[in-house]
Amino acid sequence: MADSSNSTKINNKIYDQEIVVLRWGHRPQRDARLTTHVALTARALGASGFLLSDIVDEKIKVTIEKVTRNWGGKFFFEMGTPWKKAVSSWKAKGGIVVHLTVYGENIQTSDVLERIRNLRKPIMVLVGSQKVPKEFYSKEISDFNVAIGNQPHSECAALAVFLDRFFEGTELAKDFTKANITVIPQKRGKKTIVKR
Ligand SMILES: C[S@@+](CC[C@H](N)C(=O)[O-])C[C@H]1O[C@@H](n2cnc3c(N)ncnc32)[C@H](O)[C@@H]1O
Repeated sequence: MADSSNSTKINNKIYDQEIVVLRWGHRPQRDARLTTHVALTARALGASGFLLSDIVDEKIKVTIEKVTRNWGGKFFFEMGTPWKKAVSSWKAKGGIVVHLTVYGENIQTSDVLERIRNLRKPIMVLVGSQKVPKEFYSKEISDFNVAIGNQPHSECAALAVFLDRFFEGTELAKDFTKANITVIPQKRGKKTIVKR
């Protein structure tokens, strides 16, 4: 797994904390598309890598690595490690764990984001799919249980809002280095620069 010791540089702004995302509970017959979307969201919105725990799905890995090759930036994709092992090695390297859950402290009405920032430690964000093990809520696993509002929605939406709050919107203007495809924003139509 990547070292839990990096900061995140978004253009000229440096955040002391790196973020990686762990997706738990992927069901091969059912969740491939959503897991892919969670990984793409992680990459596009400033996380430095993605762990698909417990399961190996080569197709998703190939898709994400292809997107990263074409669209640039640095992003790692790992899979198959049991979630407990991934969490304990992250913590052993000095990282903290933020579990996104509808039952957690509300990101808008509490100071949970400030407390996460104040620790200045690399963050592993846990998102579920099916019902997560009870242990996810415990202090042994999750340093914080964070709700993106206390209504149920989606792991993809929850992750997107968390990353956007954390990076204060700067991630939306991130320069992805070594891209083969770059979009030139237009009022209408589609314009890209494609490197051959
Ligand atoms: C579609 S939900 C299913 C949850 C499952 N039915 C349960 O009871 O735990 C899948 C994942 O989305 C995320 N999620 C959904 N709503 C959320 C919210 N309001 N705040 C934070 N995370 C949320 C959580 O990570 C959750 O594990």
